[in-house]
Amino acid sequence: MGTGYVGLVTGACFAELGNQVTCVDVDKEKILQLKKGAVPIFEPGLEEIIHRNRGSRLSFTTDLAKAVQASDFIFIAVSTPPGKGGEADISNVKAVAVGIAKAINRYKIIINKSTVPIGMGDVVTQIIIKHGPKDVSFDVVSNPEFLREGSAVADLLRPERVVIGATRRTAAQKVAEIYKPLHSPILITDLKSAEMIKYASNAFLATKISYINEIANLCDKVGADILQVTRGMSYDSRIGGQFFNSGLGFGGSCFPKDVTALVQIGKSSGYRFRILPDVLDINDYQRKLFVQKVQKAVGNLKGKVLAVWGLSFKPNTDDMRESPALTIVPALKAKGAKLKLYDPVSMGKARGLFKNVKFAKTPYEAAHGADAVLVLTDWNEFKQIDFQKLKGVVRQPLLLDGRNMYDPQEMAEKGFEYHGIGRGEVTNF
Ligand SMILES: NC(=O)c1ccc[n+]([C@@H]2O[C@H](COP(=O)([O-])OP(=O)(O)OC[C@H]3O[C@@H](n4cnc5c(N)ncnc54)[C@H](O)[C@@H]3O)[C@@H](O)[C@H]2O)c1
Repeated sequence: MGTGYVGLVTGACFAELGNQVTCVDVDKEKILQLKKGAVPIFEPGLEEIIHRNRGSRLSFTTDLAKAVQASDFIFIAVSTPPGKGGEADISNVKAVAVGIAKAINRYKIIINKSTVPIGMGDVVTQIIIKHGPKDVSFDVVSNPEFLREGSAVADLLRPERVVIGATRRTAAQKVAEIYKPLHSPILITDLKSAEMIKYASNAFLATKISYINEIANLCDKVGADILQVTRGMSYDSRIGGQFFNSGLGFGGSCFPKDVTALVQIGKSSGYRFRILPDVLDINDYQRKLFVQKVQKAVGNLKGKVLAVWGLSFKPNTDDMRESPALTIVPALKAKGAKLKLYDPVSMGKARGLFKNVKFAKTPYEAAHGADAVLVLTDWNEFKQIDFQKLKGVVRQPLLLDGRNMYDPQEMAEKGFEYHGIGRGEVTNF
C-alpha cells in the first residue's frame, strides 16, 4: 500500500526475492506509468529489478480491495507527511487501514512500514476491528524501514538490521520468514518499541549531523580543519567515523519531519525534548550561514551570476524534499543574484520548483560567466571536474563548497579561492 520511495523499492525487492507482489497506490498516473514500464523515481538498480519482475511476480494497481484479498501480507508504506503542528499526519495510514478492513476476507498480517507515531499499531488494530468483519482474524505488525534514498535497493537487500514489532510473536516470526533470505540480523520487539526505534534512530543521526556542523562552524572561527578533526575523533570506537559530514545540514523527506514529529510525540506524552529543537535550529542555521558566506565572499549579490551545482537533498537521488537548495536558491535570488542551476538527475523536478532562474545542461554551462560556483550536493560527477576548464569559463575562480568535496590546498594550487564548511579560510589566487 503506497508505491513511493519505500513502497516501490520494497515491492520490487520482495518480488526479486521470489514473492508475488502487488503494489497499490491512489495515484492513478503513477500506476499507469509503472504498468507501462516507466519508473517514476531515480534510484540506482531499481529500474532493472522492476523490469525483471514486472508482469511475472510484480504488478501494479489502484484496486486496494483486490490486492488485499489476494495477499497474505499487507505492507503499509504510504506517506506520513508533517501535519500543521509538526506532528506526523497519519491520515493516509488510517485511510489504508479502513480500506483493508472493508476488504479483508481471511487471516492477514498487516505490517506497517510507514514511519508513524508510537501507538499507531494499536490505532490500526482498532480501525480494523471497527470497520472489518467480526469473524476474520488478523495481526498488526510494525516493521520500520531504514533504507536510504540513493542506496535504497542495496539497503533493502542487505539491511544492517530488520526490526519487527508485534503483539503476538508468531506473527512477527512469519514476517521474519520474508526477510530470512537476506541473512541480516532480525530483531523482534513489542509493537511500540519497534515504532520508537525508527524515530530514535533518525533523531540520533540528525543530532550527529547538527553536532558536527556546530564543531565545523567553530573550526571556521578558530582555523581548525573539520575533516582532520572528524578523522581524529573517528578512531574512538565509541564515536565511530560514519555520518560525520559537515555541510549544509540534513534534508530529505525523513530527518526533518521525523525529528519534528518526535518533538511533538514528546509534547503530547508530557515530555519536553531539550536537544531536538536545537538540532532543527542548527540545521536551519547551516543554510543561512552558507548564504552569508556567499555574500561575504562575493560581495553585494545584486546582479552577480552564481552557478549552483546540485539540487537534490543528497547524491544519487532525484528527491528534492527539504533539500538545502530549496532555501538557499530563493535566499540568494532575494538578494539580487542571477542563478544558473545544474543537477545530474533532478532537473525535471527542479523546473517545477524554481522560477526566474536558468537551468544548465552541464556544470560548466552553469559556471559560464559566474562570479562564484556553489556546491550544494556532493554528486560524484562534481569530483571529476576539470578545474582548468572550469577556470576558463567562470568570471572569477571562486568556489563555495557546501559539502566539503574538495581539498582547500589543492583548490588554492589550481587558482581557486575556496570556502568549505569548517575548513579554515584559504584565499590564495
Ligand atoms: N523515503 C525514505 O527514504 C524513507 C525511509 C524510511 C522510511 N520512510 C517512511 O516511509 C513512508 C513512505 O515514504 P516515501 O518516501 O515512500 O513516501 P512517498 O511520498 O514517496 O510515497 C508514498 C506513496 O503513498 C501513496 N499513498 C498516499 N495515500 C495513499 C492511500 N490512501 N492508499 C494508497 N497509496 C497512498 C502516495 O500516492 C505515494 O505514492 C513514510 O512514512 C516515510 O517517513 C521513508
